[in-house]
This record gives sequence, structure tokens and C-alpha cells, in this order.
Amino acid sequence: MKSFQVLSLFAICCLWMAPSVQACKKCSVDCTLPECMPYDISQQSVCTEVTHELPVPSQCQWGANGLYRHTDFQLLKGRIIAYKLQWFNQKWSSWFVPEYNDLDCKRNMLGQSCAGKPVCPDSLRKMWAYFCDHNHTYIICK
Ligand SMILES: *[C@@H]1O[C@H](CO)[C@@H](O)[C@H](O)[C@H]1NC(C)=O
Repeated sequence: MKSFQVLSLFAICCLWMAPSVQACKKCSVDCTLPECMPYDISQQSVCTEVTHELPVPSQCQWGANGLYRHTDFQLLKGRIIAYKLQWFNQKWSSWFVPEYNDLDCKRNMLGQSCAGKPVCPDSLRKMWAYFCDHNHTYIICK
């Protein structure tokens, strides 16, 4: 094969396999000032606030997983950045931020089970344990 044939074959493959220009949206498409970068940052997470979710009794993992950090990925396929709980007197809590201020004063007790598995007795929990029986609001990034 002549070298220009190899080269054109390579070019065809690369063009065919390249992601569409729209999928790689450069900053400079919407931002035309001189300080705007010509690079693509579109793969960053999209964050949304989900307000006033009702209790989810089927999701016992929020409490049963104890201090496991990735229950949000397991159940909601995203990372919870901050959340609030609505107490039974209707009042809303202030923001809880995972790892910063969301340790629960209550612990998991001997004899609890979740999804057919025993819960570790005396395990600590995060405040999102209350998602199963309290209204709640959260900011999630996916
Ligand atoms: C939870 O939300 C529902 C629907 O908005 C509301 O009826 C209920 O009173 C709320 N629960 C509490 C404890 O405030």
C-alpha cells in the first residue's frame, strides 16, 4: 500500500470515530469575551436541587449503610452535596453537608435488618438516614 493510501485510510477512520462537535462544546461557543477559554469543559457534573421529596421507606440503606459515603451513588446515581430534613413539627433543618456536619446522634441497633441483611449493631449513621421516613430536599450532582 502506498503511504498516501495509508494516510487517507487513517484520516477516514479518525473522522469516523471522532465525537460530534456538539458533544464537545467549547467554552467559547457561549462565551465570546477575550478571557473565555477555547476548551471543552462540558463533561463537568450537572447539579440540581430536588425539593420536598417524600419519605422513601423502601430505601433502608440510607441508615443501614452507616457512615458509608457512597449510599447516594448506590441509590440515586449521583453525589449529594447538601441536604435538609423536614422534622415532624414541619420545621426544616439547616443544611447538612456529607462529611462536614451530618453525623446522627442516633445509632443503628441490634436486631435491625435492611434488604434481608442484618445491620451492624452500634454502627454510626449519617443524617440522611432520615430520608426513609422524613420529607427532604437535596442538591445532587450527576
Ligand atoms: C411532608 O410533605 C407532605 C406533602 O407536601 C406534607 O403533607 C406533610 O405534612 C409533610 N410532612 C411533614 C412532617 O411536614
